[in-house]
Amino acid sequence: MPRMRARYYVDDARAMAALDADNATPPPRATGKPRWRLRWATFRKLLRVSRLGTALCGVRHRRHRRLIEIDIPYACNLQCFNCNRSCEQAPSHEGMTCEQIERFVAESIARGIRWDRIRLLGGEPTLHPELLAILSMLRAYRDEHSPSTRLEIATNGYGRRVRRVLAGLPPDVIVIDTRKTGRVQPGFRTFNVAPQDLMSYRWAD
Ligand SMILES: C[S@@+](CC[C@H](N)C(=O)[O-])C[C@H]1O[C@@H](n2cnc3c(N)ncnc32)[C@H](O)[C@@H]1O
Ligand code: SF4
Repeated sequence: MPRMRARYYVDDARAMAALDADNATPPPRATGKPRWRLRWATFRKLLRVSRLGTALCGVRHRRHRRLIEIDIPYACNLQCFNCNRSCEQAPSHEGMTCEQIERFVAESIARGIRWDRIRLLGGEPTLHPELLAILSMLRAYRDEHSPSTRLEIATNGYGRRVRRVLAGLPPDVIVIDTRKTGRVQPGFRTFNVAPQDLMSYRWAD
């Protein structure tokens, strides 16, 4: 018997933290926190990824084997400046096909993988022309093989078309709405600078 979950939306601050798409400390104006606290947080982060930090505590980031994020399209209706999917600099209409998702599901079942969470994003996932078919495959996987899997979709929530698609989603799909209102995101920083080119990462592992 499939479990029904109530749909919920989370606000942008929580979504940003939950998505954890970028580890950069946001500029003070985006957080309202005093500058010294941001500097302290940055210092601690750099210490943790230094060779000493890694020698003492092990590597900072490890692959999670039960959480997966799938960027289904790279198309987006917003193209925010500095989007870390390069939607602005390199717009693309590439996307995952239903066959690819089918293979993902088949491999998950064959290997006995029960995902804790499958999150769809992009680009803007609601613009994928076969979103409902993709969701139906993932829901069938969940209902038949992995009832505790959380199925999520992250969206910018921007514009009539996106809102219309969101309104038609099955109620057991969790929507993370980052509620964007335009292309400028004060919290976004350049993402395509290699850490090794930055002075602050000179002592990183
Ligand atoms: C690439 S978006 C895809 C989902 C959807 N289009 C949206 O904007 O919510 C996934 C997450 O990455 C965040 N993101 C994208 N570029 C970023 C950047 N340069 N710095 C921090 N977060 C970023 C977005 O705000 C969103 O929370
Ligand atoms: S809405 Fe999302 S995917 Fe689109 S450009 Fe902005 S951050 Fe990137």
